[in-house]
Amino acid sequence: MQTQIDSGFTFVLFGATGDLSMRKILPALYEAHRSGMLAESGKIVGVARHEEDRAAYIQWVDEHVKPHVTKNGSFDDNAWASFLERIVYVKLDLSRAEDFTHLRDGIASLPGIRVFYLATGPSLFVPICRALAAVGLNENARIVLEKPLGYDLKSSNAINDAVGEIFAEGQIYRIDHYLGKEPVQNLLALRFGNALFEPLWRREWVESIQITIAEELGVEARGDFYDNTGALRDMVQNHLLQLLSIVAMEPPHSMDSDSVRDEKLRVLRALKPINPLDISKVAVRGQYHAGVIRGQAVPGYATEHGVKPESHTETFVALKVEIENWRWAGVPFFLRTGKRLADRVAEIVVNFRPVPHSALGAPALRPGANRLVIRLQPNENIRLYCLAKQPGEGMNLASVHLDLAFDQFFREGQMEAYQRLLLDVINGRLALFVRRDEQEAAWTWVEPILNEWAASPRAPKPYAAGTWGPAASSAMLAQHGTCWLEEEN
Ligand code: BG6
Repeated sequence: MQTQIDSGFTFVLFGATGDLSMRKILPALYEAHRSGMLAESGKIVGVARHEEDRAAYIQWVDEHVKPHVTKNGSFDDNAWASFLERIVYVKLDLSRAEDFTHLRDGIASLPGIRVFYLATGPSLFVPICRALAAVGLNENARIVLEKPLGYDLKSSNAINDAVGEIFAEGQIYRIDHYLGKEPVQNLLALRFGNALFEPLWRREWVESIQITIAEELGVEARGDFYDNTGALRDMVQNHLLQLLSIVAMEPPHSMDSDSVRDEKLRVLRALKPINPLDISKVAVRGQYHAGVIRGQAVPGYATEHGVKPESHTETFVALKVEIENWRWAGVPFFLRTGKRLADRVAEIVVNFRPVPHSALGAPALRPGANRLVIRLQPNENIRLYCLAKQPGEGMNLASVHLDLAFDQFFREGQMEAYQRLLLDVINGRLALFVRRDEQEAAWTWVEPILNEWAASPRAPKPYAAGTWGPAASSAMLAQHGTCWLEEEN
């Protein structure tokens, strides 16, 4: 259901000429505008240092944002023109306190709730929040923080403490864009809107669960950032652990923000702590070397721009995770993510246990005969694998699948993750944003791995670009009698 808001809003975008604003935030706001989901009186205030005035900023938006909008195929001249009319511009130098006074005065007459979106590096979060507070702009406002929020538990706590002195937790929206993806919402609908799956969604019936976020892209223009970050911080601490918590959480009593986040937090706190001595058994780190992706030769990580040639930064991580509670004790959750892998795919695979006794021969006893695959991207669908009798004589079983292809059932109303999340911020819905305690629990869990890898003289395991990562990743699953699902959907 598409909701139109009736309250006005002032959406203040710091980093308004940055990459994220250009590719994601402004196109998402345009799309919300085009589909009539923004209140008429709502304004977007671009805040940046580079452009001189509104005319120059509008020109920048027209040149840089429009191509990303037209790419989605939803461009409409009239909608674009009226979208640009919503835009106000404030030139602001973060180091000048008086510029924040101008900002306050510039938006004083604009209606509705105020949202401050910090699409900037994390080192600017605290200075911006303090400067906003100094001119009283923190009152009754919402603040949106982009990842990465810190580098480890300590630095993330330092940011959260400082921001928390200025904004109450209920005013803080920490973005994890994976939570805004339609199939993630669908996973909640599947689990909690149907009685069918719930009885099976536990250790008695689930043998293992896999969550993969694989990318074909390398580090692109972000070599410098990435080399100081790595896949564990970039993808596991946030996106993968958030997906895991949604897969494994108990049914919340309602979908209000704290009920959902309380349940996710319980999962994160129940993650079995990793003993540093066991890390090599439960964690694989890899780094891509030169290889071939879709017929194109691509360079190795160590020769990417901005990367130190001797870098030990991981571009691939595979983990075996356990959850210490009644529902999941003993069920391995295998998580994997990497750059320059064989395919771009994000999916969750629930492998059910085979039948306890088969009167129909060996196939029914094979692991993975019953499996639910929830695909987030590139296409969105849910596929349930079952065994069926092959036509003809005899009782020969073969794997068949039931498909829920959402784009065929619902031809309209698909929403990009950022659009959903921005509308949630404007409408004051916190459920899809990460609460501080969730973030702390996630950092606490990954930290032993971060520390161990930082201290280890051993290089990450190499893998050729265009493959599925180091062999050790498959070997880890083989020890549990299973393998990664790598097939065309
Ligand atoms: C970001 C990471 O959070 O997610 C990037 O910083 C990654 O490194 C991206 O490429 C993947 O997001 P998506 O939506 O394209 O799968």
